[in-house]
Amino acid sequence: MAEIAARAAEILRAAGFGGPHACAVVTGTGLGRVAGILEEPGALSYGEIPGFPQPGVTGHGGRLHRGRIAGRSVLVMEGRAHPYERGEAAAMRLPLTVLRMLGVERLLLTNASGSLMPEAGPGSLVMLADHINLSGMNPLIGERDDARFVPMNAAYDPDLRARLARAAAARGLPLREGVYAWFSGPSFETPAEVRMAGRLGADLVGMSTVPEVILARFLGLPVAAVSVVTNWAAGIAGGAPHHVETQSAARAAADDLAGLIRAFVADFPETAP
Ligand code: HPA
Repeated sequence: MAEIAARAAEILRAAGFGGPHACAVVTGTGLGRVAGILEEPGALSYGEIPGFPQPGVTGHGGRLHRGRIAGRSVLVMEGRAHPYERGEAAAMRLPLTVLRMLGVERLLLTNASGSLMPEAGPGSLVMLADHINLSGMNPLIGERDDARFVPMNAAYDPDLRARLARAAAARGLPLREGVYAWFSGPSFETPAEVRMAGRLGADLVGMSTVPEVILARFLGLPVAAVSVVTNWAAGIAGGAPHHVETQSAARAAADDLAGLIRAFVADFPETAP
């Protein structure tokens, strides 16, 4: 993997993706147009980057974007690899390693999720405060180095969370906080599974993000995550999630998310041009 990552980083540097970068953003289902807020944009399709999630596996052609927001350099991964595609919890290890090599200083993960929180229905933005891994998988299984014993207290970086809260307040956007439970998918949860997750302390359910948070902590990248609630979780308020609806609900909320990200990034120290 180290060789492929080095080759990917070399190709990306040659294409103008070298850092430092104030932030990298990973966009979830239906949220790709967040990349549209970048100024002076450029993009490479994942197909041109060794080790990045290849089209056909993800079901959509992903792209890595570069650009600036208020003078800060930012990378946006439009599309992620999901562990449910091939049973690999470490599916995002190579891309995140390459982002780190390119000088990314912080990571913001976004996703679509189902909500169990009465106060956060479809269309709401919820910042992750913590997670519960219900998948039985972990992206660091098989890792040999003792660095695999990653502490997970304050995994969602407290400073980044405070910054997100400030950015939301500045834009007048309600931003809740919640605990996200990771189910492997790709089938949606049953109502009984959602009731179980709720009793265990979950506020949201989804099929991504948690392995990326573990990998980010492993790589020493401060990380935060924001969820766009696309539906009530199965059995909550009649929730019966369906992929097509989750995609269209995510697209409807993408402008709020883009505004939040813009304000979040604009508050970091400027990066060199
Ligand atoms: N469950 C799992 N993943 C999801 C959901 C859900 O209800 N909504 C969007 N992604």
